[in-house]
Amino acid sequence: PAAVPIKVRNVQDHLETRVVVQGWVHRFRLQKGLAFLTIRDGSGLIQAVLSGDLAKWKVTQQLTLESTIAIKGMVHKLPEGKTAPGGVELQADFYQVIGLAPAGDDSITNKVPSDASPSLLMDNRHLALRGDALSAVMKVRAALLKSVRRFFDEENLTEVTPPCMVQTQVEGGSTLFKMSYYGEDAFLTQSSQLYLETCLPSLGDVYCIQESFRAEQSHTRRHLSEYTHIESELAFISFDDMLNHLERLLTKSVEYVLADPIAGPLVKQLNPNFVAPKQPFKRMEYIQALEWLNEHEIPNEEGEKFKFGDDIAEAAERRMVDTIGVPIFLIRFPAEIKSFYMKRCKDDPRVTESVDVLMPNVGEIVGGSMRMEDYDELMTSMKKEGLDPTPYYWFLDLRKYGTCPHGGYGLGTERILAWLCDRFTVRDCSLYPRFTGRCKP
Ligand code: 4AD
Ligand code: MG
Repeated sequence: PAAVPIKVRNVQDHLETRVVVQGWVHRFRLQKGLAFLTIRDGSGLIQAVLSGDLAKWKVTQQLTLESTIAIKGMVHKLPEGKTAPGGVELQADFYQVIGLAPAGDDSITNKVPSDASPSLLMDNRHLALRGDALSAVMKVRAALLKSVRRFFDEENLTEVTPPCMVQTQVEGGSTLFKMSYYGEDAFLTQSSQLYLETCLPSLGDVYCIQESFRAEQSHTRRHLSEYTHIESELAFISFDDMLNHLERLLTKSVEYVLADPIAGPLVKQLNPNFVAPKQPFKRMEYIQALEWLNEHEIPNEEGEKFKFGDDIAEAAERRMVDTIGVPIFLIRFPAEIKSFYMKRCKDDPRVTESVDVLMPNVGEIVGGSMRMEDYDELMTSMKKEGLDPTPYYWFLDLRKYGTCPHGGYGLGTERILAWLCDRFTVRDCSLYPRFTGRCKP
């Protein structure tokens, strides 16, 4: 019979059928005169068995790992006790090489824990992406973005696409990427927040999934120079409403990923001990965090006891959340260590209606707050920060043309993935990561 072209993902619909699979030679093993090929077509893996002449000379002489082939044969369900991806095997009766790969470059395709140096793997990211773990993370990433969009849709938020080239800063001048925009100064956006705020009166609650850029000088496992920022902005909400919304976002999008037929099993494979977060999340005030850190003798940046106004740096934050072991909403940070736009708490104007969501093994994955909605208060805060209000006229106009209580947050896609997929660094969660000294491939 003529072979039916299939994607490996759908193989279960084609049992006892003659099919043709086109893909790449992922693995290769010769055993007792049989050749076992694992073929990868991007949608999954399938084992093909070649016997007789097919196994003998053609395979040994021509086929290298990562060569492209078309392979035809019957698909059989494997008997109990034999294992292969999907519990099936393709009994090959014909194959054709489409593109040969050079022999001997196996370590950089990253299919097994490799002894290749990290920078060699980064130079060969295009090949390393073919590896099991990296490609699995990318599939989970796709499912995560889909799940997040589904959640926002259920909550009736409208998706917008703000610009990446801007003339304003959001999160401080030290991490701005400057560029020349037809001779004028411009920056790559640090956050789409200010633009999202301007959409509230026209579109209502909004979100975006947009690249953000940070010229991070530090070399850490959780900082990228470019990352995918999931941000939303909500009108007429209270700080509590926002925290509840964030809880729903995190629990539901994870629930949807785990229920996804492709991504769910991949998460279990990458992170067997993953525990889905449950509502309500632990809530902890900044001031309580300082007490916790001091009780546990974890020092501040100067090696001293924490005092009000100290930044909780990455190492201390990690030790705290790793010890506590569950997601934490860290709230009410002092105004002096947070961004200029954050609204002060009514009961204590030293602190802000702000939140960082901390996850075990990663630390901060979300930063959010209620926004100053009063024009004069915001102007005072910007001046204190040394910001020239001129290029912010459009952002300030929101406070002139009908202001409203509102708030929002930003979620780092690579950080939530590092948590979900148990990756050591966010670099493993970005397709082509950019960080200090790395802008290729
Ligand atoms: O805490 P951040 O700087 O907050 C903002 O940008 C707000 N304007 C967002 C908002 O309210 N709309 O960044 C938000 C999140 C962080 O919690 C982190 O997950 C991620 O963005 N993030 C980074 N991820 C990777 N590499 C970096 N250099 C990151 N900087 C921030
Ligand atoms: Mg932050």
